Amino acid sequence: MNTYEFIVGGILPYLAVLTFVVGMAYRFKVWFKTPQPARMTLFPAPQGSTAKAVLAEALFFPSLFKGDKLLWCASWVFHATLVLVFVGHVRVFTGLADSIMLAVGMTKATIDKVSVTSGVAAGVILLASAILLLARRLAFARVREISGVGDFVALLLLLGILVTGDLLRFGPHFDLAQTREWAWSLLSFSPVVPHNPTFLVHAFLALLLVAYIPFSKVLHFGGIFFSQSALRR
Ligand code: HEM
Repeated sequence: MNTYEFIVGGILPYLAVLTFVVGMAYRFKVWFKTPQPARMTLFPAPQGSTAKAVLAEALFFPSLFKGDKLLWCASWVFHATLVLVFVGHVRVFTGLADSIMLAVGMTKATIDKVSVTSGVAAGVILLASAILLLARRLAFARVREISGVGDFVALLLLLGILVTGDLLRFGPHFDLAQTREWAWSLLSFSPVVPHNPTFLVHAFLALLLVAYIPFSKVLHFGGIFFSQSALRR
């Protein structure tokens, strides 16, 4: 293992997770301690059950739907596909998804087919919707005005992760067993790092994103659960 591989695969994972945990703890502390003198809401105050309304907001973005249908469409597809990719990565890392699918009676061949179809679709859809979201920030003066550096950093980081993820998916075959070996070796503090350069860039950017989340707008999902309409009913 050379120095670059050791830093990306043997040091950065620990630093990224530590930064994420400490950063999130700090965020929670600030959220819990922030005084809430008046009843303000991030989105129209829900009628009826708050829990149901907050859950609906988190899952289907109804307020955004009312405000901007095109943005809602790109944004919902983007987030839903991210969830699909997350599930796919549980398979990349653990093989747990395989065990569950085998247990419910699927064959290995079917599992591979489902993985290829959903992985390919997710990779393409996610990249297309991230490009659309970036183009929107650049193309419309009204949106450009309210976009900060952080918005672009998050989107560019994500684009880098998506492009390298798609290269792993569509390029020369990358053996997922190496990712699993790497993940487990990190738990025993004796990292075995894959040598594939595309994998290393993908992991590097993904780990930067993990460390960046608590300090960036990527954390907007947390705000929904701390908005006053959620807390004060
Ligand atoms: C350290 C963390 C990560 C590792 C080790 C990792 C590893 C991988 C690997 C090995 C593949 C190829 C899968 C295959 O060919 O079957 C892949 C694909 C992909 N990754 Fe990651 N990944 C990480 C984080 C992320 C994150 C945070 C995102 C998005 C925000 C992401 C998005 C993608 C996409 C879009 C693909 C292509 C579609 C797919 O195969 O699901 N990855 N990743």
